[in-house]
Amino acid sequence: MNLSSVVGGRPVEGAPGGTLASVNPARLDDVVAEVALADAGTFVAACRAAREARRAWAEVPAPVRGRAIAAVGRIVEANKEALARLVTRETGKPYAEALGEVQEVIDTCDFFLGEGRRLYGQTVPSEMPDKQLFTFRVPVGVLAVVTAGNFPVAVPSWYLVPALLAGNAVVWKPAEYTAASALALHDMCVAGGLPRGVLDLVLADGERTFAGLELSLEQGLVDKIGFTGSSAVGARIGELAGRHLQSPCLELGGKNPMVITPSAELGVAVEGALFSGFGTAGQRCTSLGTVIVHESVHDDFIAGFSAAVAAARIGDPTQDVLYGPMLDPRFAKRFEGYLDWIADHHKTLGSSGLGRITAANPRRGFVGDPEAGLYYHPVVVDGVRPGDRVFLEETFGPVVGVTTYRSLPEAIELANAPGYGLSSSIYTSDPAEAFGFRRGVSAGMVSVNNSTSGAEAHLPFGGNGRSGNGSRQSGMWMLDQVTRWQAMNWDYSGRLQKAQMDVARLEPDLAFRLAPDSD
Ligand code: UN1
Repeated sequence: MNLSSVVGGRPVEGAPGGTLASVNPARLDDVVAEVALADAGTFVAACRAAREARRAWAEVPAPVRGRAIAAVGRIVEANKEALARLVTRETGKPYAEALGEVQEVIDTCDFFLGEGRRLYGQTVPSEMPDKQLFTFRVPVGVLAVVTAGNFPVAVPSWYLVPALLAGNAVVWKPAEYTAASALALHDMCVAGGLPRGVLDLVLADGERTFAGLELSLEQGLVDKIGFTGSSAVGARIGELAGRHLQSPCLELGGKNPMVITPSAELGVAVEGALFSGFGTAGQRCTSLGTVIVHESVHDDFIAGFSAAVAAARIGDPTQDVLYGPMLDPRFAKRFEGYLDWIADHHKTLGSSGLGRITAANPRRGFVGDPEAGLYYHPVVVDGVRPGDRVFLEETFGPVVGVTTYRSLPEAIELANAPGYGLSSSIYTSDPAEAFGFRRGVSAGMVSVNNSTSGAEAHLPFGGNGRSGNGSRQSGMWMLDQVTRWQAMNWDYSGRLQKAQMDVARLEPDLAFRLAPDSD
């Protein structure tokens, strides 16, 4: 399969940014697609095409745009298994998770298709007679959306679907190593009835994309940036957007804490830690970072958790496994660097080895041939301390730290210490602890007796601090990212009525008091 960018609705010729093979990380000899990469100029051309297409799209009545989103949802649903198979082949996430990811796209379409018949504005009373006030939602214009490859279709749909529904044109730059999944979603959106150029796709590396974005902003072609990726790149994007007086929608990294209290149901907590720590091989932005367990239940939790991790099925993602390979060689390499942060005062648990799973460094019960892909041992790092890098930094991969606490305020302080603020979790049967944690934790999302992963598609998704700038994706909150409020006032009195000045006054008696003996 040969893939290229799509600009103005047409495939782009040539590969000014070079070529790249999108490889199945579970079977490195399986090339999913040969990708022709674009350069900064292609990105600018796509933004220009989007700028041309956006006006006519904004003129299409919102309920009709909603029908297009409905069609996209049905098309994705009809192709659910095929798309999930492609996602598994290209990312290495287990097929069950890939099906869940595609379902998230369908859920997002289902949520927003009805918004085409709402997109409510308000009618508001004026302070003067014969005058009426209104508010309208107005599309921002052209969105440049840059997304990561760990959720190659679900997370992009959080941007694309509401943006298109609201009447914007979109230039989407997916992760180049999941280009085939991206092109499949792009094609399904176009099949839903989008006019040419309303959704373009640019396949390019990070630096060329950044350069293209910079040029497009300078030329006034982009009105809003949506970015999902690392905190470091998010900071660069935020800086660039700020120079153009724009506030981007940023969804960045996480060091998501899970607090386990003495009243927790430990079996349920172990299950939650296993799924959020190691699902998607720990490569979700919502993946569990550190377990913060009360010292009185530490030993019991560790016994249960390390046994569950040791028994977990790992391997071929087309089989029934907890997790498969790393997404891409660059993530595997980076993960090996994180493993160097494990120090003498730590105790590692959960597998028969550490690092890459090979014939010489085997994992008991591995499903399939470990040498075929980028498979890594799961590792639980006990004895983590607040000064450790493994405690402070995001460690995208199958590693979970464990530390202890004595009081809830201390647990909250530990949960917030790394400075991220995406997802968080507490296991407790005490409502005061659950709500106390919610109040104190800096995260945008809080789970009670549930893992840090697995947000539903209609609640606000996003973080604070190193996890983002407070913007939220998903659900109705996303409308505030893809539209702007316009206020309108209409005076039909036939004269100039000056606000604040020509306003009728009532005369209150502010000195009024009840008679002293009236109670
Ligand atoms: C991400 O990792 O960027 O809540 C998104 C979850 C998924 C989305 C994760 N629904 O884990």
